[in-house]
Amino acid sequence: MAMSVNVSSSSSSGIINSRFGVSLEPKVSQIGSLRLLDRVHVAPVSLNLSGKRSSSVKPLNAEPKTKDSMIPLAATMVAEIAEEVEVVEIEDFEELAKKLENASPLEIMDKALGKYGNDIAIAFSGAEDVALIEYAHLTGRPFRVFSLDTGRLNPETYRFFDAVEKHYGIRIEYMFPDSVEVQGLVRSKGLFSFYEDGHQECCRVRKVRPLRRALKGLKAWITGQRKDQSPGTRSEIPVVQVDPVFEGLDGGVGSLVKWNPVANVEGNDVWNFLRTMDVPVNTLHAAGYISIGCEPCTKAVLPGQHEREGRWWWEDAKAKECGLHKGNVKENSDDAKVNGESKSAVADIFKSENLVTLSRQGIENLMKLENRKEPWIVVLYAPWCPFCQAMEASYDELADKLAGSGIKVAKFRADGDQKEFAKQELQLGSFPTILVFPKNSSRPIKYPSEKRDVESLTSFLNLVR
Ligand code: ADX
Ligand code: SF4
Repeated sequence: MAMSVNVSSSSSSGIINSRFGVSLEPKVSQIGSLRLLDRVHVAPVSLNLSGKRSSSVKPLNAEPKTKDSMIPLAATMVAEIAEEVEVVEIEDFEELAKKLENASPLEIMDKALGKYGNDIAIAFSGAEDVALIEYAHLTGRPFRVFSLDTGRLNPETYRFFDAVEKHYGIRIEYMFPDSVEVQGLVRSKGLFSFYEDGHQECCRVRKVRPLRRALKGLKAWITGQRKDQSPGTRSEIPVVQVDPVFEGLDGGVGSLVKWNPVANVEGNDVWNFLRTMDVPVNTLHAAGYISIGCEPCTKAVLPGQHEREGRWWWEDAKAKECGLHKGNVKENSDDAKVNGESKSAVADIFKSENLVTLSRQGIENLMKLENRKEPWIVVLYAPWCPFCQAMEASYDELADKLAGSGIKVAKFRADGDQKEFAKQELQLGSFPTILVFPKNSSRPIKYPSEKRDVESLTSFLNLVR
């Protein structure tokens, strides 16, 4: 990895060029009515991962390319882009993702910014994904940051945005929802309709449509999604992919690329990085918040709870992609096919020989037993469900660990014809539902958490068996 300190003196516009370790006074005429912040955070040493030198520069903010493009000139960071932006041709992003699978977030960020220049921006939620901004800053390249201001964020998050802007000497490009749409929703359904009929409608108005508008002005975006954030929906996200849902500047399917530089990083490591680099963080984290979204839809979690349990907690786990990353959810309805295959053709899961496979009759008998000699843990599952697949390894491990212990580990396939019965009699909400049938009691107890690792399941079993 080459390290360099480059000095660039240029040009007409006045630049903040942290890549080159130099700050030049901006000319106000270039940036409309906004002045840049007094304190500009400039990397003392810039990392030049690409090993290339810039030859000439062009202003970051030329005319917005489409009417809907992300932001008026005035509100963007004033910086310049090195003319080393590679020509983006049709590229095999699956191949690129494989190549970058073991790359560091810094390398991935550098690659992304170098490739797309002014046509890429970081999507910043106001939580620990500030790590993305720190990585972008460390590359020494100019970068853009946008955030979806839903109007329902916590006051702490707004303060944090301000702190981040000051720390890095940037302007975050806020995207706001359409006021007429918000008005329509709130006047007809009130301010908290999402608690009654789900968060999708409000998220569509306040987040997804503004995001769509933002992305129409870009060729690529950068997110802070990580695999460990949601075993069910995010366990397979690659570090780079053609965006499966949204369109970019050139329009049409495949016109937008999505970079996820911290996909393979674990939450703890993100936090170590933030602490080491002394980056400002949202004060809500100190109050027990991990994943942070809008105020009415986010709460603190208790020690050991999964971070996703603090988001839209009144809804099923499967619904917890608000639309920004809908492509992560493979299918939604029971009739859907999975990867082109019909559901009945999907191979079964939970194959440990220490697992008991319960038939309908078997589970009905289990329910009737008043004086069970041993406790049972049973997963109600569907083999095509990504959340069930995500817990397969840990559940198999649990069965192996408990073999001969007197605790029975079982599975009951509860989709298709069995679904109604499972809903009526076995508290099935969404897949997977895990039940413990304690010794000496007929009533099953539903496992209330989304943490489905061996340790969490064992500790729950010990509490209720
Ligand atoms: S969400 O879909 O459930 O809301 P999450 O909070 O996990 O997403 O964040 C994942 C990534 O989505 C963030 O790192 C960020 O890149 C993007 N993101 C989420 N919320 C916002 C937001 N309000 N503005 C911009 N980007 C966001
Ligand atoms: Fe609305 Fe909640 Fe979605 Fe925010 S997270 S847009 S408040 S439903």
